[in-house]
Amino acid sequence: MEKYAVKIEDLTITYDDVVAIENVNLEMLDGEFLAIMGPNGAGKTTLLKAILGLIKPVRGKVEVYGYNPFHEGDKVRHLIGYVPQKVMLSKAVRLTVGEVVLMGALARKYPPRIPSEKDVNSALEALKIVGLEEFWNRDFLELSGGQQRRVLIARALVSKPKLLLLDEPLTGVDVRSQAEISAFLNELNRKHKVSILMVTHDLNPVVEYVDRVALLFRKIYAIGTPEEVLKEDILSKVYGSRVRVFAYGGVCFAIIGDVHR
Ligand SMILES: Nc1ncnc2c1ncn2[C@@H]1O[C@H](COP(=O)(O)OP(=O)(O)O)[C@@H](O)[C@H]1O
Ligand SMILES: [Mg+2]
Repeated sequence: MEKYAVKIEDLTITYDDVVAIENVNLEMLDGEFLAIMGPNGAGKTTLLKAILGLIKPVRGKVEVYGYNPFHEGDKVRHLIGYVPQKVMLSKAVRLTVGEVVLMGALARKYPPRIPSEKDVNSALEALKIVGLEEFWNRDFLELSGGQQRRVLIARALVSKPKLLLLDEPLTGVDVRSQAEISAFLNELNRKHKVSILMVTHDLNPVVEYVDRVALLFRKIYAIGTPEEVLKEDILSKVYGSRVRVFAYGGVCFAIIGDVHR
């Protein structure tokens, strides 16, 4: 078995003349729960897209379980479940929750894309993990933001990925949903042994669950346990002086003013 879920060496990615990622090195272990933290424009989404093989690096190497995502895209996409930051679902087509989750299974099939009984069972299982097994027939667009986010995570889980990539899964949902989503991600990681790479600008909801956190702003400023990285002198390199860290019940939290660099 591959030791690393993701291995990144000396990665540089540019858009025209904007350098989004510069000389990034990152080794994520199989089974790890890793958070990538950084402000807007830090290159977080770009990094995920490179792991998915959607962007060609200018320099450097990316491996997912030993495969090159750019040249072995099919293999890599079978190993990954991806929850994008923005999801384009047409409001003109009313889909049930079950249909949205099944999209995760059908995307891998050739047309005509007809769900098998196995697909339906996998979709139900994924909905159960996110705590929405009763919602199969509900109209997706009528759910709350937090419930929609859970359904989209279930959609990424249908194919039973070894690695789950989440782009800001806690942004724009209420505090209670943030806590519930964080808790089932933890369970998915510990119980179902799914490796999780989550991008976030706010670490606090998951700080107790992540194994390590990487601080990214174009390059990686720090990587380690939350206790090692959540220090005012480290965070201020990226967030400036409006960062405060405090410990509560033996856990570190960071308060970050809305600083724009
Ligand atoms: N498609 C694109 N074309 C040009 N510039 C882009 C594109 N996508 C992202 N960028 C730029 O790359 C940098 C990193 O963006 P992004 O990866 O989206 O950061 P984050 O997800 O951390 O907010 C930003 O400066 C952003 O403006
Ligand atoms: Mg982003």
